Amino acid sequence: MTHNLLCGKRGLIFGVMDKSSLAWHIAKQCAAEGADLVLTNTHEAVQIGSVCELAESINAEFIECDATEPQQLEYLLKETQRLLAGKIDFVLHAVAQSQNLRRHRTYHDTSYNYFAKTIDTSAMSFHKLMQTAYKNDAIANGGSIVALTYIASERSLDGYNDIADAKAMLESMARNWGRIYGERNSVRVNTISQSPTETRASRGFDGFQKFSQLADNLAPLGNATPQELATLCVAMFSDYMPKITMQNIHNDGGYSKTALTGKFIDFWESQKKS
Ligand SMILES: NC(=O)c1ccc[n+]([C@@H]2O[C@H](COP(=O)([O-])OP(=O)(O)OC[C@H]3O[C@@H](n4cnc5c(N)ncnc54)[C@H](O)[C@@H]3O)[C@@H](O)[C@H]2O)c1
Repeated sequence: MTHNLLCGKRGLIFGVMDKSSLAWHIAKQCAAEGADLVLTNTHEAVQIGSVCELAESINAEFIECDATEPQQLEYLLKETQRLLAGKIDFVLHAVAQSQNLRRHRTYHDTSYNYFAKTIDTSAMSFHKLMQTAYKNDAIANGGSIVALTYIASERSLDGYNDIADAKAMLESMARNWGRIYGERNSVRVNTISQSPTETRASRGFDGFQKFSQLADNLAPLGNATPQELATLCVAMFSDYMPKITMQNIHNDGGYSKTALTGKFIDFWESQKKS
């Protein structure tokens, strides 16, 4: 069901790798709600993923960009405005990567070279994006920026490694940019903390499936699906949330606020027996 909530809006979406990507679902929903879109990702993602396939199917433009490179970001923002014929109304930042996680380096045996890259890709890229947009006045007044995050930024989670630190930094940057960009252009800046979802990025996290199952059983409403994230993003990008800014919104079925439930105890007991 769609409501044309983004009709006439211009959006820029980072992070579509393949059909499992959270950004894939969000881009599709934004297009269905009437937005004109530019999708962006790295050269590597174009080679191994299917972002161009999605761009074609939803009539979106695609521009290659490494989000850690300010000059490429500047080109991306200028070109997006040219192609969409105006300032950008909304941006989705769905970018993260950790070589420590991918290569199964533990938090207590971290490679600092990889750690620096994790911070650059998963957090600093957001600052670089925001600074480039701010200096070039690329976002329309009242625009909306959303970055995706995870609860490991707030609570220690075995196995999530250096991305936990990057996410904490990302959320802080979103608050700071919300103040700065809000004061000048009423631009809203928020993060959404999503339930665990099986994607290319999450596959690097050892024990992911087990953890996702546990979270699903602990959350009173169960894990939020990618489609439920997509409709939340549409609402955040629409004109219906004009004063929501500098927030970290948990889209997790209540997981982040739950200590223990009867449903979880039943699940735990059944696991012990099997
Ligand atoms: N999957 C989950 O369980 C989950 C939960 C909460 C939050 N998130 C967050 O959602 C976002 C999207 O991740 P996903 O799970 O959909 O996985 P994904 O692998 O589909 O997306 C990660 C994206 O980051 C892109 N990327 C990496 N380095 C980049 C760079 N230098 N420049 C531009 N793009 C770059 C990749 O190409 C890829 O498209 C991430 O920020 C992730 O941390 C994921």
